[in-house]
Amino acid sequence: MRERKRISSHELRGIKTAPKKASIKTAEVPGPKSVELGKLKEKYISKAIGLSAPVYVDRAEGSLIHDIDGNVFIDMGSGIGVTNVGHSPKEVVNAVKKQAEKFTHLCFMVTPYEGYVRLCEKLASVAPHPGLAKSVLYNSGAEAVENSVKISRHFTKRPAAFSFVHAFHGRTFLAMALTSKEMPYKAGFGPLPETYKVEFAYCYRCPYKMEYPSCGVACADKIDEIWSTPQFQGKVACLVGEPVAGEGGFIVPPKEFYAKVTKICRKHGAVYVDDEIQTGAGRTGKMWAIQHWPGVEPDILVSGKGIGGGFPVSATTGRAELMDAPQVGGLGGTFGGNPVGCAAALAQFEIIEKNMKNVPKINAYMTKRLREMQSRFPIIGEVRGMGAMMAIELVSDAKAKTPAAKETKATKVAAMKKGMILLSCGTLDNVIRLHPSIMMPDDLLEQAMDILEASLEEGIKG
Ligand SMILES: Cc1ncc(COP(=O)(O)O)c(C=O)c1O
Repeated sequence: MRERKRISSHELRGIKTAPKKASIKTAEVPGPKSVELGKLKEKYISKAIGLSAPVYVDRAEGSLIHDIDGNVFIDMGSGIGVTNVGHSPKEVVNAVKKQAEKFTHLCFMVTPYEGYVRLCEKLASVAPHPGLAKSVLYNSGAEAVENSVKISRHFTKRPAAFSFVHAFHGRTFLAMALTSKEMPYKAGFGPLPETYKVEFAYCYRCPYKMEYPSCGVACADKIDEIWSTPQFQGKVACLVGEPVAGEGGFIVPPKEFYAKVTKICRKHGAVYVDDEIQTGAGRTGKMWAIQHWPGVEPDILVSGKGIGGGFPVSATTGRAELMDAPQVGGLGGTFGGNPVGCAAALAQFEIIEKNMKNVPKINAYMTKRLREMQSRFPIIGEVRGMGAMMAIELVSDAKAKTPAAKETKATKVAAMKKGMILLSCGTLDNVIRLHPSIMMPDDLLEQAMDILEASLEEGIKG
């Protein structure tokens, strides 16, 4: 009997066997089909929607993005830290299909369903401490952040919130108020709700011009000092913080920082809200980044991005007395905890739990390569980050630490032209961030680092 040829899912979908690495086919990047769509984008989409890499996507799988012109890119952005286990993992796709065939929407507040309950159960079971017992689900990170402040205000009966300089918490009103960077996030959109900024532990650019560890993490003590002034006494409901500042430039505070910060929150009777939207879902090698600061117990944990398997799922998970404080109907939303999103999230959590062990290896390789690049290119002022969340801060003068924003942008563009999607960040627009899937194969990560090195070489010329 003749052996029947196995037909791959690619062939079934009419897709030729995909290359397993970056490859550029068009003379210019973006290619001609992307340029055509770009013209329609100009015509029909608000100019306020900026694009990092204007290559229009046909499909994405694992760590590769295929554009409509036939170019293949390594994805080092993961859709801004969302596809933590790669694009369209089959377990997520199967769970989504199965759920979509049953029902796509009901609204949990009208007629409940198991997926919502199971996802909240999962969030409690993977929480950094057993006190984080109850959740509410939403659609976006900003919405979850907003609700964490609503809950904190309701519980404490206080109006204000603190957040950190360099923070990013989203684009809705309260989340925007908590965000630090004026341009482009806040300019022209005020007035904003009542929030105040306290300094973050950005040791490379210490706001108090001190040195770690001799500083004794004095920046945290300063928070207490400010909080103790009459202006803030009895007024602040919560402090919202990212364990590693994401948009702010992948800034990792020293190991003593959060124990001090959470103690200060307790002293002032306020809630500590841990925004894990960018750092969470296994990206740093633990489920939540705050777990790298032992003994720190946030009162509310906010998650989004990476928990949803690419679907818009976010959550506030908190202590029961906090989460139960608001009146019935005070929290929720039409689409929050959408059944297809819940199915995707539950499948995604399983993959994350199985694959978080890859993160130290990815981190070690990226760190090694970035440090080698730092010794080659003096423009790299600092290599920093955690797990599969690494960054380089570019400075045109190493001593004065002059931010090299132009070179950062040029490096990003050069990377796109060479077949890699790269994101920048930083309050001073001078940080290149690397956000690979925690399942990126070794050979792709190696190619990604090679492309970064070549792109830096070009980008430095501006
Ligand atoms: C730490 C953090 N919080 C909140 C948000 C807002 O999330 P979303 O864009 O889903 O509203 C982001 C998005 O980048 C983020 O990084």
